[in-house]
Amino acid sequence: MTHDVLVVGSANADLVVSTDRRPGPGETVLGGDTVVSPGGKGANTAVAAARLGANVALLAAIGDDTYGTMLSASLREAGVRTALVRTVTRPTGIAYITVTPDGENSILVSPGANQALDPAAVEGALAGVGVMVASLEVPLPTVERAIEVASAAGVRTVLNLSPPADLGARTLAALDVLLVNEHEAAWLLGAAAEPARLLDLGPRSAVITRGAGGALVVTTSGITELAAPSVEAVDTTGAGDAFAGALAAALAAGAGLEVAARRAVGVAAISVTRPGAQPSYPSAEELPAW
Ligand code: RIB
Ligand code: NA
Repeated sequence: MTHDVLVVGSANADLVVSTDRRPGPGETVLGGDTVVSPGGKGANTAVAAARLGANVALLAAIGDDTYGTMLSASLREAGVRTALVRTVTRPTGIAYITVTPDGENSILVSPGANQALDPAAVEGALAGVGVMVASLEVPLPTVERAIEVASAAGVRTVLNLSPPADLGARTLAALDVLLVNEHEAAWLLGAAAEPARLLDLGPRSAVITRGAGGALVVTTSGITELAAPSVEAVDTTGAGDAFAGALAAALAAGAGLEVAARRAVGVAAISVTRPGAQPSYPSAEELPAW
């Protein structure tokens, strides 16, 4: 069985509470009702790509519990292949998310089962894959191994550097696309650095997402600025994962990086207009509106 897109990353249950403001240290604040929905940067990316019509598999680990069952159902419903989603003896990852009225979120993740996704899981998973996209709520050695195996096999590699992690120079040099938001770019380069400096770290290209400000595509031939449609943001949770999934789906379908990033900007913009991560991702039919 081959897939156009392999996603390597986390699967979490998102426990989401809306609040007027976040509690400070030692403080108690009352929020809204808890909404439980499927999330995790890896599962989100896979669902986003599958909704757009890509043939996607997810390599991930979940627990033998109700949250794991919820995640499997969401993946299957979106058409993601789950043969590489293993069930382990730790609890399914949980993300504790607060969302404020401006649509901003803050997230505390309890990784649980995601920490059991070891490098050995990568063996055999990359045969026949066109594009591999990884993110970092799973152990760093697993991501590094996935990128190493993929690049040796001629598979295109995209890394969503979220949350930020110290990648080895060899891993960075094996990347086709380094995908970062502005905070992650600043974390890598320092606040005032030129976006083009990302290529000095080794990847063949880079994409910087800038929320409502769209995205920058950085290649050796220069920098292209892509504007985002202006939308009313209600929940930005998982917008970066929507971007990663849409980018991978378009690359796997043969689009160049700039066209793929342009589509990803549109998909991420739609996702922020609806609550939640996976439940907010559009299908291909919804896109022509942009
Ligand atoms: O990127 C958004 C995701 O981060 C959420 O779905 C949550 O699970 C955390 O992993
Ligand atoms: Na959303």
